[in-house]
Amino acid sequence: TKCQSTSVEKPRTKRNLLDNASNLLTNLLSGGSIGSMPIAEGAVSDLFGRPLFFSLYDWFIEHGSVYKLAFGPKSFVVVSDPIVARHILRENAFAYDKGVLAEILEPIMGKGLIPADLDTWKVRRKVITPGFHSLFLETMVRTFTKCSERSILKFEELIERENHDKKAIELDLEAEFSNLALDIIGLGVFNYDFGSVTKESPVIKAVYGTLFEAEHRSTFYIPYWNLPLARWIVPRQRKFQNDLKVINDCLDELIKNAKETRQEDDVEKLQQRDYSTLKDVSLLRFLVDMRGADVDDRQLRDDLMTMLIAGHETTAAVLTWATFLLAQNPAKMRKAQEEIDSVIGGEGITAESLKKLDYIRLVIVEALRLYPQPPLLIRRALKPDKLPGGYNGNKEGYEIPRGTDIFVSVYNLHRSPYFWDWPNEFEPERFLVPKGNEDIEGWAGFDPSRSPGAMYPNEIISDFAFLPFGGGPRKCVGDQFALLESTVALAMLLQKFDVELRGSPDEVELVTGATMHTKSGLWCRLKKRS
Ligand code: HEM
Repeated sequence: TKCQSTSVEKPRTKRNLLDNASNLLTNLLSGGSIGSMPIAEGAVSDLFGRPLFFSLYDWFIEHGSVYKLAFGPKSFVVVSDPIVARHILRENAFAYDKGVLAEILEPIMGKGLIPADLDTWKVRRKVITPGFHSLFLETMVRTFTKCSERSILKFEELIERENHDKKAIELDLEAEFSNLALDIIGLGVFNYDFGSVTKESPVIKAVYGTLFEAEHRSTFYIPYWNLPLARWIVPRQRKFQNDLKVINDCLDELIKNAKETRQEDDVEKLQQRDYSTLKDVSLLRFLVDMRGADVDDRQLRDDLMTMLIAGHETTAAVLTWATFLLAQNPAKMRKAQEEIDSVIGGEGITAESLKKLDYIRLVIVEALRLYPQPPLLIRRALKPDKLPGGYNGNKEGYEIPRGTDIFVSVYNLHRSPYFWDWPNEFEPERFLVPKGNEDIEGWAGFDPSRSPGAMYPNEIISDFAFLPFGGGPRKCVGDQFALLESTVALAMLLQKFDVELRGSPDEVELVTGATMHTKSGLWCRLKKRS
């Protein structure tokens, strides 16, 4: 499977949409139970050999915005519809949990926010959300710039050392972004400097080992790791247990230190501390110091581990795909660089100047549209529910029984030919054009001008057609952190370098686990800008 940005292009014409609508007439006329849902069948082989979400897209175009995917004894309801997504994620959010995803992640994240049961989640979410307050985010901008500077310095030194005549170097930017994102998340969440841009350490290796295992588990069909003794007998499971221990020991030590230096205060006071002089501004510090938020070390460790994993690969992937897209569009890269030159020139980025990098922000957002991380949101119905009728498919909606497993395909929503013009094209400017949709009833229209204060387009102004960070109560807690981080890192890279792909875009193969990444790296040529 090649990952050209145009690989799944479907022309968006009204006739097309009408043809599709008439194909779906059968669904409109049938009843409203899960049994009457269109079924994707005969293509189970599609599950192997190429990422699942590509097949889910083809079936979406064929069967409509809500269909059942059956393979073997298992079945999933696949949702590619903003109205139905809004129902599941926001309106009736508490009728669902994370299902299969929680089963996979629980051994790693314990009772961290992502897999947590509802009772634990309610308590912890209330405590963690205020940690991402505006002063913290502003202070983090300094961390983002410092860490990005380290990466830039490394690239400059490599150029100096290896190839100073041509002022260019080839390197795998995906790996570099991964190191950068790890350093940033370590400092932001628990004030620990992995220093992974410049060195390797047992903890870094253990983090990568754990991520690797999480990915293996999310793509491997049979959960053999739950079998008794598997963790002792299967070598990769033994290694995984060792990796977990290394990270947990490190986190336990950090928690112990934070607790020993505890300075209890009220939430409001913590949010107004003088962040310019604080030595440790991390979330861990905030969570430990918050009055009334006493929590056992185990829960705290689960929270930190969850944010470490949730905030690392996702951000690295956004930077990877934004660079991949820009490298194929030199005119857009130049436009981005012109913005950087005029807003910050040769200076460093500050929280203030960051606000003026409008185009870079849209590049990040457009990369998130084309390559959402993760491409699927996973849910399981805790009780029977009725999904609303979507914009196509059964107008009455569908009754679904308790235990139904659901994939909300963010990838399909983000590339839906029903909502986006040229859905597979990289067009950051699209977010500047107010847009309604005369084709589909219930589509509120996408109009960024309705929310001028919002720095980044989001699921609210797009009414769930664009949900890079999910939506409703389980929406990403780190969304602003991640957006600011990616904007800073991309801007600083483009300030100093022109980026070209080493080979053709077709050679960059896409694989997917929890996030979408390349099969063998994003090999680029970096040239120093004069
Ligand atoms: C949840 C995406 C960065 C922490 C989520 C969800 C999405 C998402 C889509 C919702 C999952 C669902 O509904 O099933 C992203 C993307 C990121 C990013 C695309 C980077 C570009 C971060 C960062 C952090 C973080 C930097 C922490 C510092 C979390 C946590 C949750 C979450 C804790 C679970 C929230 C809950 O269930 O209450 N993220 N995320 N994420 N994210 Fe992020």
